[in-house]
Formats: sequence, C-alpha cells, structure tokens
Amino acid sequence: MLYDARTPVDMAFKAELPEWLSNPGMSTTLTVDVASPGWEHKVGLIPNVLKELRPSPENAIPVTCGPPIMIKFTLQALQEIGFEDKQIYTTLEKRMKCGVGICGRCNIGTSYVCVDGPVYCNSRLKALPGEL
Ligand code: FES
Repeated sequence: MLYDARTPVDMAFKAELPEWLSNPGMSTTLTVDVASPGWEHKVGLIPNVLKELRPSPENAIPVTCGPPIMIKFTLQALQEIGFEDKQIYTTLEKRMKCGVGICGRCNIGTSYVCVDGPVYCNSRLKALPGEL
C-alpha cells in the first residue's frame, strides 16, 4: 500500500496505520506532500514515490483512488514502471452527481461512471474519449 495525504494531520486511518506498518505480510509506505516536525516517512507526491519504489508489475494489480489529478499522473507512473493497462484499476466516482444514471453528469463518452463503473480497468479507460 502506498498512501499519501497532504500533511500528517490529514492522514485517515490513524488507528490502523501502526498495524499496517508493522504487518510482515503487508508492505506499507506513507508519504505526505508537506511534512511536519516528527514525520518519519516519505515526503513526495504518489507518482514520484511510486517511481522511486518501483514495485514489480509481476503478479500485481494496482488500484488507485483519490483526486483525479493524482490518478492521472499515477496511471502514467505505473505505465513507466512497466504495468500493463489490463493490470491497472482506478476509481472515477468523483465524476458522479446523482449516482443512479439520471443526471448525465458522469459520462465519459458513452460510459456512465455511476452505472458502468465507478471502477475501471485502464485498458477500458483508454477506449473512452480522453476526458480525464
Ligand atoms: S451520476 Fe448522474 S448519471 Fe451518473
């Protein structure tokens, strides 16, 4: 897991973080955009930290969620590392308004995120108009 927040104070899952960090069956890296005194983890945006860590694409499925701009650059970083489109999944619920297929605000081409998603494989995303 690679988890980012703007600052250490903004981190969610504070109660779970110690267990995730100490779990030998789980690799967890925390990063923030802006550190504060006492921060002992990484400082940097997800795409940059991801390129630094360079996780192996072998037998892996990356799933991204977060702000659209972060997702956009994280998808690019994953491809630079060697992940194939069919391996990469992302969420697009930020585009949704009504959430039930009525308002038409979430469409990307002919795909309605609220009905057809909100999780998309990158190979499916690339078949849609480049509106992300
Ligand atoms: S959110 Fe309204 S149609 Fe998808």
